[in-house]
Amino acid sequence: MIRSVVVGSGASKPRNVVKNSDLEKSVDTSDEWIVQRTGIHQRYIAAEDETTASLGEAAARVALDDAGLTVDDIDLIILATSTPNNTFPATAVDIQHRLGMKHGAAFDMQAVCSGFVFAVTTADSFIKSGQAKRVLVIGSETFSRILDWEDRTTCVLFGDGAGAIVVEAQEGVGLSNDRGILTSHLRSDGSHREKLFVDGGPSTTQTVGHLRMQGREVFKHAVAMITDVIEAAFDATGLTADDIDWFIPHQANRRIIDASAKKLNIDKKKVVMTVDQHGNTSAASIPLAIDVAISDGRLKKGDLVLLEAMGGGFTWGAVLVRW
Ligand code: UT7
Repeated sequence: MIRSVVVGSGASKPRNVVKNSDLEKSVDTSDEWIVQRTGIHQRYIAAEDETTASLGEAAARVALDDAGLTVDDIDLIILATSTPNNTFPATAVDIQHRLGMKHGAAFDMQAVCSGFVFAVTTADSFIKSGQAKRVLVIGSETFSRILDWEDRTTCVLFGDGAGAIVVEAQEGVGLSNDRGILTSHLRSDGSHREKLFVDGGPSTTQTVGHLRMQGREVFKHAVAMITDVIEAAFDATGLTADDIDWFIPHQANRRIIDASAKKLNIDKKKVVMTVDQHGNTSAASIPLAIDVAISDGRLKKGDLVLLEAMGGGFTWGAVLVRW
């Protein structure tokens, strides 16, 4: 059977690092509160000349180089983002142009913090249906542009950045030791809208708006939703927490990640935690964490990786992939 195999990856971070102590100067917060409640120590914030498109393009170039490919080899670009450069055209099309790609197609995917998991799942479907051979999947965000910098309950949590992978159609035998995406499970439930949303948009306020979150409410649902969808991935494959080499979750909060790993009996040593360095970068957080785990030598070809995310909507999902 056809499998979608990851053949390259990369990331791009804005130039400017903003530490918790920097935020202490502009809002009523403390390094101690942020670290204790979230695990975040710093985040990257885009400068004026850095955008979702430019960060995404840079991450894509690294991923293509890593794969030993050029845009000529790519059929489709899927960009997961909730912070596009413009309302339209899709920022994916902008990135396609920046990369000098004139063939194939590109589109944006909007599932907030679950965007990368939704985009990877969509890429897998295009590959399995034979509509694409190689897909560039990018998660790129500039959440700093939709934050209310006077709201301490949200502005300390998020950061900017981008990550990308290239997935390629390869033959597998259909067993769980195949390389590639083994299973993916997506969920959404719009009844939770008010808990995490942006209070603007073209069809309502004609403004971009600001992120609004009832953090405690999101927290309350997060662990249950995450574990539920991961258990669906285990049930579909017959794999268990013991089989996992690396758990690479969406990076919103250290406490959510720890509690999810504990509930699922995933060994702490297998958890890739990068929220301390990047903050919550929404759809970029998983590919940024992948980049860290590859760069420091942890994540290797053949490893079984569990990706998971939960965010605005609510949306949530899980992917099991053998690297
Ligand atoms: O990626 C999408 C999904 N998003 C998430 O997963 C976020 C989920 N939620 C969370 O991560 C946590 O709920 C937060 C980190 C947002 C908040 O942590 P918490 O332990 O749930 O704190 P809380 O909202 O219950 O607030 C506790 C206290 C409040 O003061 P009072 O009412 O107890 O006097 C807040 O006003 O902390 C106060 N507080 C702050 N204090 C210092 C809120 N923000 C800050 C701040 N600095 N930045």
